[in-house]
Amino acid sequence: MNRVMDKICLITGAANGLGEACARLLAKEGGTVVLTDINDKRGETIAQEIRAAGANALFIKHDVTNENNWKNVFAKVIEHYGKLDVLVNNAGGGTYNDVETLNLTDWKKIIALNLDSTFIGTQMAINTMKDTGGGSIINMSSVGGLVGSPNLVAYSAAKAGVKLFSKSVALHCGQNNYNIRVNTVHPGLIKTESGMEMASKATGMSVEDAETTFATMHPIGRIGKPIEIANMVLFLASDESSFATGGEFVVDGGYTAQ
Ligand SMILES: NC(=O)c1ccc[n+]([C@@H]2O[C@H](COP(=O)([O-])OP(=O)(O)OC[C@H]3O[C@@H](n4cnc5c(N)ncnc54)[C@H](O)[C@@H]3O)[C@@H](O)[C@H]2O)c1
Repeated sequence: MNRVMDKICLITGAANGLGEACARLLAKEGGTVVLTDINDKRGETIAQEIRAAGANALFIKHDVTNENNWKNVFAKVIEHYGKLDVLVNNAGGGTYNDVETLNLTDWKKIIALNLDSTFIGTQMAINTMKDTGGGSIINMSSVGGLVGSPNLVAYSAAKAGVKLFSKSVALHCGQNNYNIRVNTVHPGLIKTESGMEMASKATGMSVEDAETTFATMHPIGRIGKPIEIANMVLFLASDESSFATGGEFVVDGGYTAQ
């Protein structure tokens, strides 16, 4: 309990899937959570549920590809809490295309959603954190950012970009003694709405059959659960990970160990 007590934690894409699991867990462990998402109805409901369970939670509508939206989010965080300790750049996603079927418009959308958003959020977080004692920035990459996938061409490029962007920023923060740690998390297939939609498209199977097929690709024998990613995010958000920066934290049931 209380592993992130009194930390102000901002989680993007928190109205569903991994972001929701992170927000609920960080709140359970004593954090004050700021949930952001384009889905304001569901985001507000989750924030209300977290408050009803006795934690502090605020929802802000936010499109992570929009710089002005980010400015509004940071202004509100500072207005309410005066600082930010943890940023989880979680919002992201992709389309299922190979290099021949992807068009430039979709390529740009996927890069903007996964990589531009991570750049904008990370830059604003550093600006704030460096004046308030430091913090932890956790950028959601994927196994798709570690190994190639013929049909996730833009997504893989974006998530690999998130990985090396984060390492470069970790070095910059270290060199400047900001006390800001920056790490990436690399999930294998996790049972969320968009994870299963992607798996179903990849296999041309129903969601149920795709789950069975993907389970065999993960040496541990099953796909992952959102809480298993949230547990890694909690570790990186907490002071338990105080020596971890510039790291890539793989949580993939052995998928990339093969
Ligand atoms: N589920 C997986 O198998 C898996 C595996 C590896 C990496 N990831 C990564 O984890 C992150 C979360 O994935 P998920 O499976 O929980 O997705 P999800 O679709 O379940 O949830 C994503 C959330 O982000 C929100 N969102 C979408 N576009 C947004 C935008 N422009 N601005 C703000 N919010 C936006 C959605 O409304 C939704 O609430 C993504 O970055 C994804 O690439 C997921």
